[in-house]
Amino acid sequence: MVKLGVNIDHVATVRQARGISEPDPVNAAVLAELGGADGITVHLREDHRHIQERDVRLLQETIKTRLNLELALAPEILDFALQIKPYAATFVPEKREELTTEGGLDVIGHRLKLEPVVKKFQDAGIVVSLFIDPDLDQIEAAASIGAQFIEIHTGRYCDAQSEDDLKKEFSLIDLACITASNLGLRINAGHGLNYRNVIPIANLPGLEELNIGHSIIGHAIFVGLERAVREMKALLP
Ligand code: PXP
Repeated sequence: MVKLGVNIDHVATVRQARGISEPDPVNAAVLAELGGADGITVHLREDHRHIQERDVRLLQETIKTRLNLELALAPEILDFALQIKPYAATFVPEKREELTTEGGLDVIGHRLKLEPVVKKFQDAGIVVSLFIDPDLDQIEAAASIGAQFIEIHTGRYCDAQSEDDLKKEFSLIDLACITASNLGLRINAGHGLNYRNVIPIANLPGLEELNIGHSIIGHAIFVGLERAVREMKALLP
């Protein structure tokens, strides 16, 4: 069964818009789990625009599934993550002005910085995943620095504007999965997935987990979070 990690950042986005304590992502995690989430994912950004340290601390203490913390190579965030010891850490690139994570991590370019961090997290018992584009050189680099997982960036597939583009982006992801499996990497995927485009990705061979946020939280505004998660889970093989 393909696992579903529910990204609840946008519950915190709504809270931060008012600067008060509600809605609380900790409550959201309970409902997501009741709806069948296999894990809870949050991104502690360096600019703290949505998720705060307090959220991560409480989620790690209270969730019944597994916490996947997304983070960039920022020293204070790395130190905090090592204190919290989430189940998994997914390394992502971060730019201050972006609306959301725009591209995959450049593992080749950041290899010297990344390799010791991957080791440090693994020595602390944290599973390490690298969020990368479906690019064969980046996949090889991820394997060579010893990451257990990659998370394949599905954004370009989700943004495809024509049937041809969609096919092209899908085959890149398909090839990325085959290559990653052959290199012994385990595979997650995510970004931009919704109730309409998720099925082909969910059925890729070797795929273990999808991380989905925006579409689930958006749908939850209309149907409630528990049902929104259950409906997404029902689409996964
Ligand atoms: N995976 C990663 C690494 C991400 O950065 C994000 C967005 O925070 C997601 C998955 C979820 O993307 P979306 O909100 O578009 O479902």
